[in-house]
Amino acid sequence: MRALIVLAHPEQQSFNAHLAEQTRQSWRAQGHDAAILDLYGEDFDPREGRWHYALSKDAERFDPMQAQRHHWDQQQLPADIARHVNLLLQADALVLHFPFWWFGAPAMLKGWMDRVFVYGGLYKSGMRHENGAMRGKRALLVSTAGSSMQACAPDGRDGDMRLMLWPLMNALHYIGFDVLEPHLIHGVRGGLAADTARQQDDRLARQVLEYQAKLAQWEEWPSVPFNRNEDFTDGQTLRPNAPVYSPFVRHREHA
Ligand SMILES: Cc1cc2nc3c(=O)[nH]c(=O)nc-3n(C[C@H](O)[C@H](O)[C@H](O)COP(=O)(O)O)c2cc1C
Repeated sequence: MRALIVLAHPEQQSFNAHLAEQTRQSWRAQGHDAAILDLYGEDFDPREGRWHYALSKDAERFDPMQAQRHHWDQQQLPADIARHVNLLLQADALVLHFPFWWFGAPAMLKGWMDRVFVYGGLYKSGMRHENGAMRGKRALLVSTAGSSMQACAPDGRDGDMRLMLWPLMNALHYIGFDVLEPHLIHGVRGGLAADTARQQDDRLARQVLEYQAKLAQWEEWPSVPFNRNEDFTDGQTLRPNAPVYSPFVRHREHA
């Protein structure tokens, strides 16, 4: 098995970089292949834009979706995007490591998805969700928050962190991944006094061990449920008797 580990953190010595390295080592210890794609490390440009594309189909107006599809069809994707797409297509598992920034993923990670989940190649009509390009492969989000577990709970002051990550998980599901329950580590804070920092280090060391133990049981890691194609009328509207797995896709309330 092969894992692609994507790291979206600007600092090599960050806790997130450390976690990504733990994922790589755990994966290798199990006899699998694992490589880290360090987005900041390779100065990835997360901005989609016309300047990336050699073949300009329409000089007047840049259409990102059409540019992606055309360059995929012509095998003329920007070199870094072609490399990342290949890594993705060859991987059996994708692990995304990132800090929770402003209630979501850092722009670097979002931009990576904008550019690497190429229209025409990784998704198109008839090639989405359970028929997606990445079907049969698993994806996991591993994210850290500065706030406490209580504050990030469904009734917490910051709001439900897992729910806020749902749009990201939905994107992974959209291109066909079986998405695993995200692994969230809370209360990761900098600028602490020496004693408190030591206590935090001890706690995080324990949490890393727990994470590694879960990785060792990768096959048992639970998936996030999503509605299937047959749960929708014309592929669009949730059928009245269909199950609801997320407040993002729910039945309309009848007064
Ligand atoms: C731009 C920015 C936005 C942040 N937004 C949040 C947030 O919305 N919720 C939260 O709990 N922590 C937030 N934090 C704190 C980070 O999640 C925390 O610093 C990080 O998880 C620590 O991991 P690291 O040591 O690998 O950077 C934010 C930090 C930065 C720099």
